[in-house]
Amino acid sequence: MMNEATLYQPALPRHAGFPIPGGDEVRCKGWRQEALLRLLENVLSVGENPDALIVYAALGKAARNWAAHRVIVETLKTMEEDQTLIIQSGKPIGLLKTHVNAPLVIMANCNLVGRWATAENFYELEKKGLICWGGLTAGAWQYIGSQGVIQGTYEIFMRIAERYFDSDLRGRFILTAGLGGMGGAQPLAGTMANAAILTVEVDPDRAAMRKEIGFLDHIADDLDHALALIATACAARAAVSVAVIGNAAEIYPEIVARGITPDIVTDQTAAHDLVYGYVPAGFSLDDVKALRQTDPARLMVEGRRSIVAHVTAILEMQARGAIAFDNGNLIRTHALEGGVSRAFDIPIFTEAYLRPLFCRAIGPFRWMALSGDPQDICKIDDFVLQRFPDNQIVSNWIRLARERVPFEGLPSRIAWLGHGVRTELALAVNEMVRNGTLSGPIAFSRDHLDAGAMAHPNIMTENMCDGSDAIADWPLINAMTLCASMADLVVVHSGGGGYAGFMTSSGVTLIADGTEAAAQRLTLSLNNDTSLGVMRYADAGYDEAKDEAKNKAIPWLNAV
Ligand SMILES: NC(=O)c1ccc[n+]([C@@H]2O[C@H](COP(=O)([O-])OP(=O)(O)OC[C@H]3O[C@@H](n4cnc5c(N)ncnc54)[C@H](O)[C@@H]3O)[C@@H](O)[C@H]2O)c1
Repeated sequence: MMNEATLYQPALPRHAGFPIPGGDEVRCKGWRQEALLRLLENVLSVGENPDALIVYAALGKAARNWAAHRVIVETLKTMEEDQTLIIQSGKPIGLLKTHVNAPLVIMANCNLVGRWATAENFYELEKKGLICWGGLTAGAWQYIGSQGVIQGTYEIFMRIAERYFDSDLRGRFILTAGLGGMGGAQPLAGTMANAAILTVEVDPDRAAMRKEIGFLDHIADDLDHALALIATACAARAAVSVAVIGNAAEIYPEIVARGITPDIVTDQTAAHDLVYGYVPAGFSLDDVKALRQTDPARLMVEGRRSIVAHVTAILEMQARGAIAFDNGNLIRTHALEGGVSRAFDIPIFTEAYLRPLFCRAIGPFRWMALSGDPQDICKIDDFVLQRFPDNQIVSNWIRLARERVPFEGLPSRIAWLGHGVRTELALAVNEMVRNGTLSGPIAFSRDHLDAGAMAHPNIMTENMCDGSDAIADWPLINAMTLCASMADLVVVHSGGGGYAGFMTSSGVTLIADGTEAAAQRLTLSLNNDTSLGVMRYADAGYDEAKDEAKNKAIPWLNAV
């Protein structure tokens, strides 16, 4: 746990050769280009395997290959403000003359035509070097480390607490798995929610790294030790996070066999990708690495077999009273394909806990201090607390985050904000850049998992009340609207690897460089982005969204 003395400390560099960007030197022809270059550098500095350009989500890459990366960097350094860099699946393909109010970068990543959008086709095309999986915030240069998902995970735990545990997770046991780029947020989110959380991770290096950066308290010697630590913490109603090294497809059934039932159970291994993500039981990490080249089909069969055991154990825990939820990794889909007919008895977190927020376009909104100065985030935290004291979700979160969430890479913050509030904050920050309160420009982005930005029928849009789960018009409309609203970077991504054919989403980045032009871009882009989010849910028929549209004068045209 951090204390006053360690608040707002810069992150330590994680990988040799991938320094955290920052400082005053502008290497490009303007701050907007420089900002995007720093964000590209940042995703690699906090990525899981930057030597291979991999940022997170198994195979989510910042650029197609090193040649593509080199040209992107050179182009960002030399391009003018009235040009637009076009990137197709991580590869730069052109620098077009546009105008100073056009996006500087437009990307499309991993979009395959309907019937061709399968994992097998993706791997084939990826092997030929024709496509890459952008992992959403990896390819869009928006990833900020595990912090990116931490409030989402925390809010899920808190909604479960409210619904099932008298708003109190003290003395409660959460079981999960996966300590990768996103899953690594779980231990910290669990202890922030005051629970005792056990995470199963197959790769000891990943666990060691999460402990080193302050997201995890203990790595247990074995399962006995792990369960003892959890039991002790639960008895004392103390928050603790513990990792145990092992395969979740073996450890979850073992916990069932011992008759132990967690209060909450989920999983955040990279189960969406059976070749590059999920490690099947009985296989070492080296076995898996070799099989990726020699026999990926076998990995898919073995991975699915393991997921059947993994999900069967979760269902058994659910039957014994645990609150189970899917944390957005397609594990139920693979289990169903493997024959677990009840896999979808496990609810998805979006529908079960967060949809009321999405109806009001409240979602993960992030800001990054391009100067590298943690005090910039401190000042913005202060502003948020002063300006939005009645917004419980935000003020509670900022108070917790400022004490508990260590920075990774560029000092950054993520908080769930909605229509109007995002714009107001961004404009205030732009003014703080202009008047010198902050030591450099701030970049804003929001997650692809945002109200108007994602169609994913097994995660974001599962069980929409009008049945519009698979309609991908929304993210496309969103991206086009953001271009029309003069955003700095706009991207449309679809799923890669195991996500191929499962999703389409859009992303946006905006740079607050203190100028009047930035204020205009921020106002239009943020207002329109969240307006579309509310409209998407209002159009589906959600009352909360209709109310939000009415209360905030969002120009929704109700054509019913
Ligand atoms: N809920 C959300 O909003 C959200 C957001 C982002 C990503 N995701 C999804 O979460 C999943 C994890 O993402 P990530 O970025 O952490 O992936 P990652 O590839 O960085 O990490 C996955 C981790 O799972 C571990 N693992 C794999 N198989 C295992 C097994 N059988 N038992 C135990 N550990 C195992 C790996 O060693 C690795 O540490 C992905 O499917 C991703 O798409 C969800």
